[in-house]
Amino acid sequence: MNIFLIGAPGCGKGTQSEFLVHKKNFQHLSTGNIFRHHLKNETPLGLSAKKYMKEGKLVPDGITIDMVKDSLASIDNQQNLVFDGFPRNLKQAQAFDKILDTSHRQLDWIFYLEVSDAKIIERLAGRLYAPKSGRVYHKTQKPPQKEGFCDESGEELAQREDDKEEVILKRLKIFWEDTRPLLDYYKEKFTLKTLDGEKSPEDIFQDILSIISS
Ligand code: AP5
Ligand code: MG
Repeated sequence: MNIFLIGAPGCGKGTQSEFLVHKKNFQHLSTGNIFRHHLKNETPLGLSAKKYMKEGKLVPDGITIDMVKDSLASIDNQQNLVFDGFPRNLKQAQAFDKILDTSHRQLDWIFYLEVSDAKIIERLAGRLYAPKSGRVYHKTQKPPQKEGFCDESGEELAQREDDKEEVILKRLKIFWEDTRPLLDYYKEKFTLKTLDGEKSPEDIFQDILSIISS
């Protein structure tokens, strides 16, 4: 099964992906996580993505699309997969159609996690993440058991560089201008479900489970 999670920065794509990975044996393809991994290791790809990510802009389509192709090549097409943060504009969506065809996959569900802009800002300002395990926390909504450290790996938690308020606002603008219009593109093509992204993470996951098992 292939799922695509779409929504504004901070709407909970990573959080729901984590549930799918841990509870339903999905593999997670997050373009943001892959870029951050390259950034941390200072690879040529990471260095070319750096300035865009820091400013909250999209990394150029060509770089992003090639990276997704490479990542998919090493994943068995029978493996359940959740796409998080790709595609983000029309050009990427059109390329994604071709990538799916070539890899003999099809999108089974698209979930739009709907969250107000005010809530997004609150969430991103309090977000913490574990650089190695990739787990995501929130200072008040989802605190780790030991303050400042990951429950799974024990590593120290960090704040994302793009979670500063001025960058959050830029990311939100790009979401409304470039990514949100994809809902119209997919409405005509696939089974797109809009979920209330302001429920608790567990309740949203139950909504996802009830749809995918229906
Ligand atoms: P990416 O890493 O994908 O960032 P994003 O889309 O901005 O989304 P986030 O990861 O910030 O949020 P999320 O939806 O995963 O929410 P989360 O679960 O963490 O991309 C980063 C950058 O990489 C981009 O800006 C761009 O530069 C580049 N990039 C990536 N993909 C690209 C592409 N396709 N093309 C070009 N460039 C690309 O949750 C957020 C917080 O809220 C957490 O603290 C969490 O604990 C909390 N929370 C989650 N759910 C709930 C809930 N239901 N209730 C209360 N709190 C919740
Ligand atoms: Mg994320």
